[in-house]
Amino acid sequence: MNAIVVYESLWGNTAAIAQAIAEGLGPEARALSTAEATPSIAAGADLIVAGAPLFAFRLPTDDIRETIRKKAASFAAPPDLSHPALRAWLETLPPGRGRGAAFETRMWFSPGGATGTILRALKKAGYAPLARGKRFGVAGMTGPLKRGERERARAWGERLARAAGA
Ligand SMILES: Cc1cc2nc3c(=O)[nH]c(=O)nc-3n(C[C@H](O)[C@H](O)[C@H](O)COP(=O)(O)O)c2cc1C
Repeated sequence: MNAIVVYESLWGNTAAIAQAIAEGLGPEARALSTAEATPSIAAGADLIVAGAPLFAFRLPTDDIRETIRKKAASFAAPPDLSHPALRAWLETLPPGRGRGAAFETRMWFSPGGATGTILRALKKAGYAPLARGKRFGVAGMTGPLKRGERERARAWGERLARAAGA
């Protein structure tokens, strides 16, 4: 199975979850930032798992990324804004015929979320949902991940692989 886990991550928490999901999916799966997952890499994937942090109750928008960029010095660690937003990545995803799954990292209980938007965009490009959206928790505004979340992510990756019939 050609599976990729694509992530947007400013402080590394979503990237770490993506890496753990890829490990659970199996040795051929790769975790890639939105910059690394070029359209030619994404085209032909049997499974695309896409994830992002939850910012202001939703999948990060250009506006919130710009606010974070302006306030970069106020955070405990500098945000990495060098990779495109997942929202923009999804807009350029070439049509495919695989399956899709979505996850988000977040701090609190929150109305709304990011995974619904991701799953809809994947479905529009031809990647039918394989599972419900999954949430992983961070302990502070910019991390670290809550205890046990990497293990949960790896286990979820294993379940996705089984569901995909890999
Ligand atoms: C500007 C900003 C807004 C945030 N908004 C929310 C929110 O609405 N709900 C929530 O649960 N967490 C919120 N968080 C926490 C993020 O979800 C957390 O920073 C994210 O998991 C970090 O992921 P990353 O390290 O991959 O960038 C917010 C964080 C920042 C910096």
